[in-house]
Amino acid sequence: MSYEFLIVDPQVEQHIALIKLHRPKELNALNRQLMQELQQALQELDEDEKVRVIVLTGDEKAFAAGADIRQMADATALDLLKLNQFATWDQVKKTRKPMIAAVSGFALGGGCELMMHCDLIVASETARIGQPEIKLGVIPGAGGTQRLTRSLGKALAMELVLTGRSLTAEEALRIGLINKVVPVELYLQEAIHLAKQVAENSPIATQLAKESVLHAFNTTLDEGLHLERKNFYLCFAGEDQKEGMHAFIEKRKPVFKGK
Ligand code: HXC
Repeated sequence: MSYEFLIVDPQVEQHIALIKLHRPKELNALNRQLMQELQQALQELDEDEKVRVIVLTGDEKAFAAGADIRQMADATALDLLKLNQFATWDQVKKTRKPMIAAVSGFALGGGCELMMHCDLIVASETARIGQPEIKLGVIPGAGGTQRLTRSLGKALAMELVLTGRSLTAEEALRIGLINKVVPVELYLQEAIHLAKQVAENSPIATQLAKESVLHAFNTTLDEGLHLERKNFYLCFAGEDQKEGMHAFIEKRKPVFKGK
């Protein structure tokens, strides 16, 4: 499958796929076609048995500077409703495999929201992260008000959403929004390194772990514990659990097959 606004490498390293947003002149602004392509690529990689982890990146200047303002500027509420453009975002959210964002430069508006759809986030020191929609007379629309609040609490989320101020990478790390900050020449390499650590583990367990952690955002403690327990039991349905536990007992490295 070839794409206009993405560069996809299904095997940048063993078990690791790389998706690069590629609309450099527009700072990877997320127009509708790009989001449709992204949905398509994620769906294919999610179904590809060879892929265990997906790394999502932009370029040095921008992860993504938000939804495409030109495409939205003259839309009416009904145009947007009919376009149902958030359907593509809903699909991104449904990706079962772990996704790692490698962020450099601007991750603003929809770019910040896309970053927050990822499960781990590695940023370069140059990253600028925020929700500037308020300056355009709108509010975040792809989960920013909810995910920032759940990650950071009300005080900081409210400040970012009401002022539109962006965070430096260091600040984002300090407040727990992202996982790592590295020099700009290393951000992609570091994200792939992290992906390798995840990809060494059982792909069944990593998917069940992802589902369980994400469920914590969405439910009561009792319901979350219930899902975690079911997913724990489910791990015992496959060969990977036997391999992992016997490898420990036999003092060797496990070889997980995703079975
Ligand atoms: C469309 C965009 C864009 C965007 C940048 N560009 N961001 N086009 N939509 N979100 C285009 C510019 O128009 C310009 O095109 C080119 O990219 C380079 O941008 P410059 O502004 O010249 O670069 P710079 O001076 O370095 O400033 C970078 C910037 C600024 C600070 C990131 O571009 C900016 O403020 N962008 C908008 C950020 C934003 O408000 N994002 C939220 C969008 S709303 P030309 O043709 O002039 O060279 C949103 C809602 C999400 O995301 C809702 C859910 C989907």
